[in-house]
Amino acid sequence: MSAGPVLSVRDLTVSVARDEGWRPIVDGVSFDLQAGQILGLVGESGSGKSMTCRALMRLLPGARLAITGGSIRLGEEELTALDEAAMRKVRGGQIGMIFQNPSSHLDPVMTIGAQIAETIRFHQGASRREAMRQAIEVLRQVGIPDPTARAGSYPHEFSGGMRQRAMIAVALACQPKVLIADEPTTALDVTVQAQILRLLLDLRDSKGLSIIFITHDLGVVSQTCDSIAVMYGGRLAELGPKRDIIRAARHPYTAGLIRCQPGAAATGTYLETIPGQPPTVDAMPSGCRFHPRCPRAGETCREHQPAFISVDLGHRAACHFPEGPGQEAAR
Ligand SMILES: Nc1ncnc2c1ncn2[C@@H]1O[C@H](COP(=O)(O)OP(=O)(O)OP(=O)(O)O)[C@@H](O)[C@H]1O
Ligand SMILES: [Mg+2]
Repeated sequence: MSAGPVLSVRDLTVSVARDEGWRPIVDGVSFDLQAGQILGLVGESGSGKSMTCRALMRLLPGARLAITGGSIRLGEEELTALDEAAMRKVRGGQIGMIFQNPSSHLDPVMTIGAQIAETIRFHQGASRREAMRQAIEVLRQVGIPDPTARAGSYPHEFSGGMRQRAMIAVALACQPKVLIADEPTTALDVTVQAQILRLLLDLRDSKGLSIIFITHDLGVVSQTCDSIAVMYGGRLAELGPKRDIIRAARHPYTAGLIRCQPGAAATGTYLETIPGQPPTVDAMPSGCRFHPRCPRAGETCREHQPAFISVDLGHRAACHFPEGPGQEAAR
């Protein structure tokens, strides 16, 4: 643990090219991922979760998108400075990524075993036979029954949960240090979802894997993650240890998200929702981006963007009037 973070992101900015110039979609995002840690990245649809993670992989969807600022350090390596050939070695080698919809990221005309073996050959230069042997081993590790036989199956021959396991196997083939999981369980039914979460926890424990876990579901986050990062309008609203965030959220947006979770409200009371809509890239509010929806907003919030300041040990929030001990009266 003394070696410092596995991944260190500072002021990461991703922008889209508009006629009038670059417009930030992800704006000044900073966080560290420690070895063996699971960081949950949450926020409403469009808040920039996927874009942040695609930027880490330097896989931005579309020519009009670019990293326009900040730094991404993986150990000693500055990823923003690597050329495409070097980046290809990082992807799937040191950082693996799994997606919400495995079908669109698995090759339909190649057996699962061959897809994993190909990744191993590319990254490790293993022989065909050795790569297939390792591929079968990875399939076993992700809980595919009878992996030797299943390596010869095509993606459509797998169930949804098994396809997601296969996708995880592809991502893990080269023993990455970091796994980015973008809503890996959203498309699955609840039982399979729980199995996949269990698998990710086991992999963290057995391999010391560090995981960035993107989800809409704070319930999943509180079962799985060590830390939570909350995004709003392309920026981080709050970041800290899971327990502090769930029990004592300081940013009114986080507090609102927690109150909106099914199960958060006592039986018989209705579920709160945060009134209003999240902002869009081309119409970001002035000052704090959350101010139009915020019950605590004052004049300052309309005019000045709050700094992402430390509110407790390892806990940061971007709010002029954070909630907290003794703050209830202010609401
Ligand atoms: N190819 C693109 N070109 C330009 N803007 C895009 C593109 N893809 C997404 N965006 C915009 O970038 C912002 C962030 O999108 P992103 O996909 O990162 O959100 P998200 O938090 O992952 O949402 P969701 O929970 O729906 O997956 C959104 O405002 C979206 O409209
Ligand atoms: Mg997304």
